Amino acid sequence: PPLSSLVDFPVGAAVPADPWPNSLLQSPQRQALMERHFNSLTAENAMKMAYLQPRPGEFDFTHADALVNYARGHNMIVHGHALVWHTQTAKWMDEQTGPANEFTRILDRHIRTVAGHFVGRLKSWDVVNEAFTDETPSDYRDTIWYRNIGAGYIERAFKLAHQADPKAELYYNDYDISGMIGPAKLDRVLAMFDDFLARGVPIHGLGFQMHIDTQEPTLSDIEEAFSKAVARGIKVRISELDIAVNQSEQYQQLTPEVAQLQRQRYQDVARVYLQTVPPAQRGGITLWGLTDADSWIPGFRKRADWPLLFDADFQAKPALTGLAEGLGAA
Ligand code: G3I
Repeated sequence: PPLSSLVDFPVGAAVPADPWPNSLLQSPQRQALMERHFNSLTAENAMKMAYLQPRPGEFDFTHADALVNYARGHNMIVHGHALVWHTQTAKWMDEQTGPANEFTRILDRHIRTVAGHFVGRLKSWDVVNEAFTDETPSDYRDTIWYRNIGAGYIERAFKLAHQADPKAELYYNDYDISGMIGPAKLDRVLAMFDDFLARGVPIHGLGFQMHIDTQEPTLSDIEEAFSKAVARGIKVRISELDIAVNQSEQYQQLTPEVAQLQRQRYQDVARVYLQTVPPAQRGGITLWGLTDADSWIPGFRKRADWPLLFDADFQAKPALTGLAEGLGAA
């Protein structure tokens, strides 16, 4: 059965827009998979700053709009990714200098323009992505935003996003917060939530990226991490799910045994999500890509891998069955 028919929260995938290779809009096979299984869509890259604002103050929504129009034409909700990140900010930003107020002006203009452009068309936004360091003692990642504005840029971004799109659900999104490197990073992220919630800063949910493998993090780590977020009363999304299987680089192809391990792992992750996050707090699950040929992992980690639900020939893998099994247990 279609994945999204199994549950009453959004199940989605991140996809490339034009003019990227494997653009959803140029691929009937990918559209068929999207339309069969998913009711939520995220732009893998097209809504990042570098592409929406290629030159200072010059915005280009052509490709992002095409993706959003496709989604809305097929009854899919759209999750925006991401208003503020330190990667893919465009060359002009790398070269940007000036006092703090110059950077707040840039931040404000970007968020107002982009969130304002899509107002009423997106269900939710990743407002700030990956702002925390992986290890203590320093809390905040040393990024162009933090260096030039200070930690206050995060709060400022959420307030601006809320002003620009008052109905959108606003998420903070990060990786390795479901246990992989210990609870410290998550605890620091949650301290920010506690502070924002106590002071009425508009923030509604936490995105756990979950670029994981078949072993790490353990299911009890994942459960503990979700529980801590749930206790804050916020929404919990699995925002960028993929399950790598070739960390050891020993495989040239996905073997049947490994495919079954991956199936079990997809099932387990979905089950833990359903068991730990109560219905009202489920923001949904998004896969970070459609087919193994589309995944960022081989390029980024410079090795073969098969982390997603469909193979390069658009065929369903055991991973799809596993995720369906996990969701069907609802
Ligand atoms: O657009 C240029 C193109 O002009 C150039 O010819 C080509 C040559 O390498 O590169 C293209 O840029 C690539 C870009 O994706 C768009 O395709 C970059 O090299 C490549 O590094 C970039 O990777 C993206 C990555 O974010 C950037 O850090 C991945 O596709 C995307 O899946 C990944 O997504 C991130 C989330 O946004 C945040 N969480 C982690 C996740 C995985 O890294």
